[in-house]
Amino acid sequence: MSVLTIETTPIQGQKPGTSGLRKTTRTFMGTHYLENFVASIFGAIGGAEGKTFVLGGDGRYFNDRAVQVILRMAAAEGAARVIVGQGGILSTPAASNLIRTRGTDGGIILSASHNPGGIDADFGIKFNGPNGGPAPESLTAKMHDLTMRIIGYRIWEGADVDVSSLGETSCGEMTVEVVDPVDDYAELMEELFDFSALKALFAGGFTMRFDAMHAVTGPYATEILERRLGAPAGTVMNGNPSPDFGGGHPDPNPTWAKELMDVMMGSDATDFGAASDGDGDRNMIVGKGAYVTPSDSLAVLAANATLAPGYANGLAGVARSMPTSRAVDRVAEALGIEAYETPTGWKFFGNLLDAGKVTLCGEESAGTGSDHVREKDGLWAVLLWLNILAARKISVAEIMADHWTSYGRNYYSRHDYEAVETDKANALLERLEAKLSDLPGTIVQGMTVEAADQFAYDDPVDGSRSEGQGVRVMFEGGARIVFRLSGTGTQGATLRVYLEDRVEGPEGLDRPADEALQTIVAAADEIAQIHEMTGRDKPDVTT
Ligand code: G6P
Ligand code: ZN
Repeated sequence: MSVLTIETTPIQGQKPGTSGLRKTTRTFMGTHYLENFVASIFGAIGGAEGKTFVLGGDGRYFNDRAVQVILRMAAAEGAARVIVGQGGILSTPAASNLIRTRGTDGGIILSASHNPGGIDADFGIKFNGPNGGPAPESLTAKMHDLTMRIIGYRIWEGADVDVSSLGETSCGEMTVEVVDPVDDYAELMEELFDFSALKALFAGGFTMRFDAMHAVTGPYATEILERRLGAPAGTVMNGNPSPDFGGGHPDPNPTWAKELMDVMMGSDATDFGAASDGDGDRNMIVGKGAYVTPSDSLAVLAANATLAPGYANGLAGVARSMPTSRAVDRVAEALGIEAYETPTGWKFFGNLLDAGKVTLCGEESAGTGSDHVREKDGLWAVLLWLNILAARKISVAEIMADHWTSYGRNYYSRHDYEAVETDKANALLERLEAKLSDLPGTIVQGMTVEAADQFAYDDPVDGSRSEGQGVRVMFEGGARIVFRLSGTGTQGATLRVYLEDRVEGPEGLDRPADEALQTIVAAADEIAQIHEMTGRDKPDVTT
């Protein structure tokens, strides 16, 4: 057995998006496709020789084969050790944790996150650096550049590595260490949260449903909620992971987590409901009859974080992605801490977290997290909510009402137009950009435009600048509309329209969001001519 050098040629389109390289599964299964990209990852980080990596994925279709390919390529490149989750499985936050606690040179995560899995669905791969966080743009650009120039890659020729049993084995001269995917992560959660208070909560009859959506969090949630915290069996629903996520769409929002939403809005509602996505980094929070938007969830977590032991000393600062509602900014203001606004993509939080400028961060796309890892973390958000509920002893709906009374409310919704023809979507944004400078001062649906721009971010830590991150239209009185194209889709373009209105209260704090946002929705269509430019008369998904 030996190292083979395989000739290859560049494959177009291997450009990482918001979160790694994400394509259809069949694309990844194509000749040299995965190999070319993996070789480019190793090339971009200056080679794999002597290095240690973490490897795992969300268990979707092709995860098992990809693990074997990556192990053999790492072995051929002279890597010293790869730490693999048993069965090739690791949730994204668990991988981030292992990368950090084991002091590795980074890790490779196999996932297309919330996109469906299966041979006719999606697959993805991304590299996270030694800090446990997604590679910054400078590094992903290098990877892409190498994919355009690749002429060959090396791979160890040998039998499959057995990743089904715990312990050490090898691949060529490289050590492969198979670890329990849940253990280290569960221990980290025990350090951050008051597990005895949570046990007491469940022992006192508190009920919840956690929807793992047939994805990676099944084993994590069962271990933590049912085994360690004593929640009754059956608390975790859809807890058996499957390669196609039970044929579903593992995206925790009211549209795709409908089964859970139906429970929580019905007469059998439990005290608390939550869901996570394919790879375990997203979360949805819902109380009895009360859906909590991700933006509001971030604000509530920031306002109440000190109730959990891991955050008892207070927050250094908070960060949110630009399209996320500005609800958390109000909390930061009240706490006297900094609130940072970054482009969409968790990778932009990395520098702020590493520099100790922020403790908590979150995105409208159902991601919340903290400095405990360098990824967003679904179960972490659920446990922090539980810790807050255990300490405050009031319902989710009461927490929300109290929050809005204290800070005012940012009504919020996101409208997605999926698989729009790329040229139509580009034309819409180009047209919008061209008229940005004319918008201020104009009146749209009775609201005066205060400012309009294309968002650019200057990273306060490394000074890098990221441009073209989305069009923002701000109105007098605090309403805002943001338009941007998704960086995670695999078919055509997805136009995202983020709608926000600000109500100071005390009147008007408890209206249904769609009703409260009607004027903003009409304004978005008037400004961007969505209907005319895309031919769509309504969004495909509303969250
Ligand atoms: C992934 C990233 C997030 C991002 C989300 C939406 O989950 O990790 O950081 O917010 O995708 O991105 P998109 O470009 O599709 O709006
Ligand atoms: Zn995800």
